[in-house]
Amino acid sequence: MIIDGPEALEKLKEIGAICRDVRMAMGEAVRPGITPLELDAIAEKMFAERGARSAPILAYKFPGQTCISVHDAVAHGIPGDQPLVEGQLVNIDVSAEKDGVFADTGESFAIGKISPDLQKLLDVTKDAQRKAMFAARAGQPVNVVGKAVQKEAYKHNYKIIEGLNGHGVGGWIHEEPTVPNLYYPRDKEKLVEGQVITIEPFLTTESRHYVEDADGWTLRLAEGGFGAQFEHTFVVTKGAPIVVTQ
Ligand code: CO
Ligand code: CO
Repeated sequence: MIIDGPEALEKLKEIGAICRDVRMAMGEAVRPGITPLELDAIAEKMFAERGARSAPILAYKFPGQTCISVHDAVAHGIPGDQPLVEGQLVNIDVSAEKDGVFADTGESFAIGKISPDLQKLLDVTKDAQRKAMFAARAGQPVNVVGKAVQKEAYKHNYKIIEGLNGHGVGGWIHEEPTVPNLYYPRDKEKLVEGQVITIEPFLTTESRHYVEDADGWTLRLAEGGFGAQFEHTFVVTKGAPIVVTQ
């Protein structure tokens, strides 16, 4: 989606704020013993109260309001009834639609007390997302995102999962362009003023790939270790991004 005026921007800000509030409310509820199904019920209630609809259900008939990926699952996890375990990470990805406009945001949360190593993975991933978002200015190639994510990840000896990318958003949940987290120097596509995109790096300690579970949804780290993801929806400008999900 390209923002062409104040009305479109207001709608995007509205759904962005809903997705952010749901992500934060679910994150605050994360603790050892709570189940992903219980977390997902928070989203169901809040979407209904604020007139929004879950994007994964709308677009893909996903079996949950949000994607909740626990431990070595990194994306598209189905909310289930297994209680969360202290010391692990859980990724909550919230995307929804209101008035025909979509936003998408995600965050990996600590379950109770985590090791300093896992905390560092969270901090670096969040930082990589932020640095890439501020590099993504109108007129720059899309690959400035991959360049920024890669620089941050490799500095700390982390790996990046191939094939899980940011994307255009707004008119639908997944739109053009694809926004890779890896740097492809020959990719010449440019970012455009007013373009609405997400940046969502998946950083890991070991894995460069994912495998899909037999459930047909859950994506799990293929080579072990731990992973984290942070995601925001924002409007590309010539200067600082207009982030609608923070
Ligand atoms: Co997402
Ligand atoms: Co996304």
